[in-house]
Amino acid sequence: MSVILAIESSCDETSAAVIVNGQMQSNIIASQSVHEEYGGVVPELASREHQKNIVPVVEKALRDAKVNKNALEAIAFTRGPGLLGALLVGTSFAKGLAMGLKIPLIEVNHMQAHILAHFIKEPAPQFPFLCLTVSGGHTQLVLVKKHLQMEVVGETGDDAVGEAFDKTAKLLGLPYPGGPLIDKYAQNGNPEAYSFPKVQAPGELNFSFSGIKTAILYFLRDNVKKNPDFIKENLADICASVQATLVNILMEQLTKAAQKYHVKEIGIAGGVSANSHLRKIIVETGEKMGWNVYIPDFEFCTDNAAMIAMTAHFMFKEKLFAEPDVSPMPRMKL
Ligand code: KG4
Ligand code: ZN
Repeated sequence: MSVILAIESSCDETSAAVIVNGQMQSNIIASQSVHEEYGGVVPELASREHQKNIVPVVEKALRDAKVNKNALEAIAFTRGPGLLGALLVGTSFAKGLAMGLKIPLIEVNHMQAHILAHFIKEPAPQFPFLCLTVSGGHTQLVLVKKHLQMEVVGETGDDAVGEAFDKTAKLLGLPYPGGPLIDKYAQNGNPEAYSFPKVQAPGELNFSFSGIKTAILYFLRDNVKKNPDFIKENLADICASVQATLVNILMEQLTKAAQKYHVKEIGIAGGVSANSHLRKIIVETGEKMGWNVYIPDFEFCTDNAAMIAMTAHFMFKEKLFAEPDVSPMPRMKL
């Protein structure tokens, strides 16, 4: 028997989930809209929002799961990577609750959890599988050998792909987070309307997105100089072209890695895996390459505590508990 409450507070979602014997019972997410007007997450405001939300979110997670806090057997929390002040809220809350209930604490790596979101619902990938983890802070190719044994085989040397989406959106005058809006406007655009140069990152399976961001900046600046309404008149085509370029870069490296490691079990994880074009292209490529493609449900792609709870379930089985003096690790590695 394992009854675990998990807390996620690494960035701008306050989330709590309850998992019983590996079955998810609840997953409550409070998103923070305060950041929209600032064009990005403001760390200080994120911490304050977590502080406001954490008690009601945890109470609702327990209520929806019909689990009394005295029945809990462990408290899991995101230790990192993430914003220090945001992580501190979840970490301190988890420590206090575990101490009060006299039960173990489980520290979870947020990036590992994004990958283990694949095990929340059937069918789950077979080991070893290759996971493309794409979020606002990370872009990684991970070879997953077992639930808790993972190897990073490629990653970005500069910006994450989510950042490339969000920064492009900002240049287009769209609010934060712009990734989903680029996805939305791209639906009606021509992905071949414009092309942007691809930058080859050092290392066979690595990524680089800062060059393309600069190329987009110059492209927009030059065109707006000629026609001040250029963005307004061509928004759908610009979004579709940028999105296609970014997805293309991801797919090229993913395909190379799958060939190099002879893996046909392929997954995507992280916020950008909610992108409809990426979801479509990965399925099409999978059909051509004979891959089995796994894409978590939308609610388990962006930040959520269900994935933290799933990871904690596997760690609980191995009795991998945290020390009581554990503190957040903003740059925690996989
Ligand atoms: O995993 P996540 O929720 O938070 C981090 O751990 O970073 O990822 C957030 C990122 C943001 O950059 C957001 O713009 C992007 O995921 N994102 C999308 C879409 N939905 C979320 N990017 C492109 N298309 C989407 N549909
Ligand atoms: Zn995330």
